[in-house]
Amino acid sequence: MRVHVLGAGIVGLACADELLARGHDVTVVDPAPGSGASAVAAGMLSPAGEAWFGEADVLGLGLASAALWPAYAAGLGVTLHEHGTLVVGYDAGDGQDVERHAEVLARHGIPVDLLGHAEVRGLEPGIGRTSRGIRLDDRAVDPRAVVASLLARLRGRVRDRLPAARPDATVVATGALLPEPWTGLVRGVRGEVVRLRTTVPPRHVVRGWVAGEPVYLVPRADGEVVVGATVEEHDEPPAATAGGVLRLLRPARVLLPALDRAEVLACEARDRPATRDHLPLVGPTDDPRTWLAAGHFRHGVLLAPLTARLLADALEGAAPDPAVDPRRFLTANHPTTTTTGGMPCA
Ligand code: GLY
Repeated sequence: MRVHVLGAGIVGLACADELLARGHDVTVVDPAPGSGASAVAAGMLSPAGEAWFGEADVLGLGLASAALWPAYAAGLGVTLHEHGTLVVGYDAGDGQDVERHAEVLARHGIPVDLLGHAEVRGLEPGIGRTSRGIRLDDRAVDPRAVVASLLARLRGRVRDRLPAARPDATVVATGALLPEPWTGLVRGVRGEVVRLRTTVPPRHVVRGWVAGEPVYLVPRADGEVVVGATVEEHDEPPAATAGGVLRLLRPARVLLPALDRAEVLACEARDRPATRDHLPLVGPTDDPRTWLAAGHFRHGVLLAPLTARLLADALEGAAPDPAVDPRRFLTANHPTTTTTGGMPCA
């Protein structure tokens, strides 16, 4: 099939790469490849770390995609962070959140040991005061490296505008900005991150709560630490704000006091594409020529390899997974009741 993929973020590129590998004639269309949420995402491959009450389907998809990542990263020549993830609480109330997290995981057959401060410190010597912790095997990846590798593989197939030739199929992978008539299926949820450079990065990915404020610290191999991320429903262009940066740096410095001397490299923001049920849209629409690979909310990087397979399977005629089938939200009238913005793409 001749396929146009709209959107060169990690999801669109992964889909294009998979379709190309299966012998389809693929063109990716994006005026600014890799500049959306993928450019800012911390890259936690973190099904267990992101698990929460009422999101069993999200966890199931995340675990399935996490299992694909080691081979996927190796194929792209990208290194994974393999030192694990610590989830910690600062005060007694934050410790309650850690215990609730452990409870969610146990319910899904992922037992974890609750750690006290000394055990957390033993694993991560630079950490400040903690009341409770758990250690997870969740990995991380640098999404910018993944996008760069996928773009290199798709060289010559990425364009800034639609080709004249009509495709057999169009895959819409434009993140939080879906074209009509699908605009209202996702809403933008702002996430701000601060990039720091330090000589004393944590060995683990560290996620935690400090006096109720959630934060995560994701170390890269070169001393960079991505501190994220705010979560804010809004209807303006996403921008890093003074309040957002403060809400990230204050708890980050409590969890890892040595970050006090870290160099600030950048403060950035993008919109996460959130659906009503927090599950992505992967598969056919009620337009027989259009498929969606969008709405991944907090999980775009984690779910990219699985999405690519599911999308390619659906495009080749397989019945889509009902949990992610975009038609769960579509009627003959394309209800677009949750829109907070969006614009036609390309
Ligand atoms: N996946 C982490 C976030 O969306 O902040």
